[in-house]
Amino acid sequence: MKGLILAGGHGTRLRPITHTSNKHLIPLANKPMLFYSIETLKDAGITDVGIIVGHTPQRIQEIKDAVGDGSKLGIKVTYIEQDAPRGLAHAVKVAKDFLTTNNKDGKFVVHLGDNILKGGIKKYVEKFMDSDIDGLILLKNIQNPSRFGVAEIKDGKLIRLVEKPKIPPSDLAMVGIYMLNRHIFDSIERLKPSSRNEYEITEAVQGIIDSGKNVHHEIVDAEWWKDPGDPVGILEANRLLLDELKPSNKGLVEDGATIVGKVNIDTGTIIKKGASVKGPVVIGKNCVIGDNACLGPYTSIGDNTIIENAEIESSIVIGNSKINCRQRIVDSLIGGNVNISEFLGTPSTAIQLVVGEHSIIKV
Ligand code: G1P
Repeated sequence: MKGLILAGGHGTRLRPITHTSNKHLIPLANKPMLFYSIETLKDAGITDVGIIVGHTPQRIQEIKDAVGDGSKLGIKVTYIEQDAPRGLAHAVKVAKDFLTTNNKDGKFVVHLGDNILKGGIKKYVEKFMDSDIDGLILLKNIQNPSRFGVAEIKDGKLIRLVEKPKIPPSDLAMVGIYMLNRHIFDSIERLKPSSRNEYEITEAVQGIIDSGKNVHHEIVDAEWWKDPGDPVGILEANRLLLDELKPSNKGLVEDGATIVGKVNIDTGTIIKKGASVKGPVVIGKNCVIGDNACLGPYTSIGDNTIIENAEIESSIVIGNSKINCRQRIVDSLIGGNVNISEFLGTPSTAIQLVVGEHSIIKV
């Protein structure tokens, strides 16, 4: 069975981070978001994976640099370029050759690169593989599903899918993971652009239902599902993933540093005397957590970061940054190569930041 991960799109709700970097590479618990979908497919036994990339050479290269040929993640990757973000169904169409070549039973899984479903999809993939159905759609009960595709079920059967309905027909949101076969391509050919000027995967699946194909659904029992499209969602996904952190220490913790709870410290990192880390916290490679630094809980610090004289809580520091500002930073997403230093003017007590790459902030 083949897999397709969609990692194009602009990520406009995550600007300024996404001005310079791909949303799918934003680290959650210090691992690029995209790697979670790769692991989900691999765990379900799918190792022949296409990744849709777009739309600038820099964004495409960035993903290629992170994933390579896939071997370090246990998969074989084929990159497929989408010229512009014309919608999820368009991305599937662009991947038609990849999905249909050397694919005996013609089945595949499409996984949005920004979706994470706790517990994975193995049992659903097995069900799909063992059946002769044409599609399996995963649904999750949520409050306010209006910003998702929403399903209508009648007598236990999936009858209708609507994209972002103002008045949702149910509380069943469509998870961005679709099990499909070749029939989807005919349906995509018949699509017209939606009101947001995109070819919608939701409408394509509705098309195969309308043409009498056998599309089943599963209401997933996962503890959580996230599609982190904005900073609040990113920080929430980070928190949920940090809850599952396995503590380990490959760095150096000096006498006089305080470590409490689940903390993961990578190689070359020093936690200095006078620093305090309250888990769950993950700290990448070659960091210095210095005197009067207070980290956590629910905080991820990327590689090559120096933090002194600062408190950081419920935040992501992407990496290669320096923070020394005598402030308490909460609920913040801080891009790469950032320098946050002390402003020697009127102090305030707390700040909230969403900061892009190469910013310099004096607070
Ligand atoms: C897309 C789909 C939507 C689905 C969602 C899941 O929405 O169009 O049906 O529920 O992914 O993350 P988008 O992220 O494009 O707004």
